[in-house]
Amino acid sequence: MDYKIQTVRGFEKVSPKNIDYAKRIDRNNDGILDYNEIKDYLIKNDDLKVVYTRDGSKIVNEGQIIREFTDFLADKPIEAQSFIRDYGQIVESMKKLAEKYPDKVSLEVIGKTFEGRDLVVMKISTSNKEGKKSLMITGLHHAREWATGEAALNVAEKLLSEYDSNEVVKNLLDNTDLYIFPVVNPDGYEYSLKKSRWWRKNRKVFEKGVGVDLNRNYYTPKDPTLYRQPNDKPDSTWDDYGASDEVNSDTYRGPYGASEEEIKALEKFVNDKKIQTVIDIHSYGNMILFPWGYTSDPTQWDTIYKEVGNEMNGVVGKKYRVMQSINLYPTTGASQDYHHAEGRFTYTFEIGNSFFPSSKKELEQLKQEVLDMTKVFLKNLVNGKIPTNKYEVIQS
Ligand code: ARG
Ligand code: ZN
Repeated sequence: MDYKIQTVRGFEKVSPKNIDYAKRIDRNNDGILDYNEIKDYLIKNDDLKVVYTRDGSKIVNEGQIIREFTDFLADKPIEAQSFIRDYGQIVESMKKLAEKYPDKVSLEVIGKTFEGRDLVVMKISTSNKEGKKSLMITGLHHAREWATGEAALNVAEKLLSEYDSNEVVKNLLDNTDLYIFPVVNPDGYEYSLKKSRWWRKNRKVFEKGVGVDLNRNYYTPKDPTLYRQPNDKPDSTWDDYGASDEVNSDTYRGPYGASEEEIKALEKFVNDKKIQTVIDIHSYGNMILFPWGYTSDPTQWDTIYKEVGNEMNGVVGKKYRVMQSINLYPTTGASQDYHHAEGRFTYTFEIGNSFFPSSKKELEQLKQEVLDMTKVFLKNLVNGKIPTNKYEVIQS
């Protein structure tokens, strides 16, 4: 059967590669994917999550996301492909930085993906001062959030290039160890860039489907209920809370906590290095999110999360919303809940208005926003406002 899709240009053919999507979207089986069917599908998948937050507010133009999705279904190429670095290029850029700044930058392969790619973390360390604080920045848990890897890497590139000429930056770097993990999900990222750009998960193959949502796979023995709520049974999908037990769902949590190499390696790394704080970058929605995502209980750092969040928002023209994660929608097994439960002060940034930056200029703007907010974060880390009581002393 041929499917037609309603787009801004009129009706277009759904590409044969995307027939599986079309089948799921076309609920009345008339071969036409109309605006409302598409919208319902995206809402059900949390892809239009940002438009329909739990408090009912509408903060992002739904038209843009629907346009991106219909362009994808019709297999229209997009410009972003030409200015976004693929995984090989990102790793190459990291190696170049390590060569250019041998006394400041080092790289570590912390594990291998299902498809055999290296998981690479960059460390920036510019002094041997005592009592240094630490921050890790992660990007691209989700394959299609293309700007987030670029934005994470840009923090490293810019801070290093400003180090010699900018006293403030020098002071921030000299008093911290910075870990940049720009692509947590290399297999998914390559698949999204080169095969099917709406892909979100990793590429682990199971009997009944492919891929785990890496931002639903975190597990800590300190609080197993943040991976799975007590009444959410592994062999059932009707009771799912915050993540799915259905392999083909976009939010599949995996067979058990930290089942995925990407997450297992990351968890081991932050523990081994005693990393104190984490910023996790996602797209989209212009939000600065803080824990929890699985319960609306406030954390012990609620006030500090809001204050530092507001200060970060101030340097980007207050275009973001600072809010507790669960007010977007509940998640289990997500990065920030894991880190917070383990004592790390942490935010999730949701950058941009859609998954794919529509121009180089837009990408540069997102990179700049993340850099500016990270500087505010680092300032508050160094001056002691951000709590680091989990690990007071860092041995590197
Ligand atoms: N958008 C990201 C995700 O879906 C971050 C979620 C943050 N947590 C939350 N409870 N909303 O994984
Ligand atoms: Zn995401």
